Amino acid sequence: MRIAEAVRTLSFPVASGSHATMPHTSRNDPGFIHIFEPGSDPAAPPLLLLHGTGGTEHDLLRLGRAISPGSALLSPRGQVNEGGALRFFARLAEGVFDPAEVAGRTRQLADFIAAAAARYGFEPRKLIAVGFSNGANIAASLLLLRPESLGGAILLRPMVVLEQTAPAGSLANRRVLILNGSTDPLVPPDHSERLAASLRTGGADVTITLLAASHGLTPQDLTAAKAWLHAA
Ligand code: MLT
Repeated sequence: MRIAEAVRTLSFPVASGSHATMPHTSRNDPGFIHIFEPGSDPAAPPLLLLHGTGGTEHDLLRLGRAISPGSALLSPRGQVNEGGALRFFARLAEGVFDPAEVAGRTRQLADFIAAAAARYGFEPRKLIAVGFSNGANIAASLLLLRPESLGGAILLRPMVVLEQTAPAGSLANRRVLILNGSTDPLVPPDHSERLAASLRTGGADVTITLLAASHGLTPQDLTAAKAWLHAA
């Protein structure tokens, strides 16, 4: 599902003026067109927003702002074009992945995060990824392959993409929320548990919440994401 569609279906209120800060769209970085919106609360964790297939860097800004109003937002645009739909890594078919492609794209995103952290002045260790579908999948790959890039993640409709487990200790003190839908035709039912297990071997504290939902986001995703973030 295109994230624009999914986000349009959300009915949560967003405070007026939440985009008072002009988003900064930039190409002057290692490869990723992105938006950076500075935060207003130094105690709020910066959020890395990762859109789904067919989305853009604009799609999750409203959701990110609603999850954590004071956070800085960093939102890159996926670089892979699948028939006009942007993604963060190419796939062989729906649900079929090439580990080398995923690893290469994950490395590029991790390098972008490191450069953005230096440029905008945030600590990657505090960065919480908020990823939807393909964006959730590359966030999980960052945790597995480049754990220094993130402090935690909210994974909205993720699936198992890499058949590997995190090295012991690599995800110590990282919290991860997996939000999947009980009627999602795209994410196989056992994938939440399998993904959680692969992250827990690295020491991550993983919470799985199964919502009465399909692949599209619902207001319950926002409620669960906010509750999880504020329980930190
Ligand atoms: C998607 O449509 O993006 C898939 O469900 C997940 C993926 O291909 O990464």
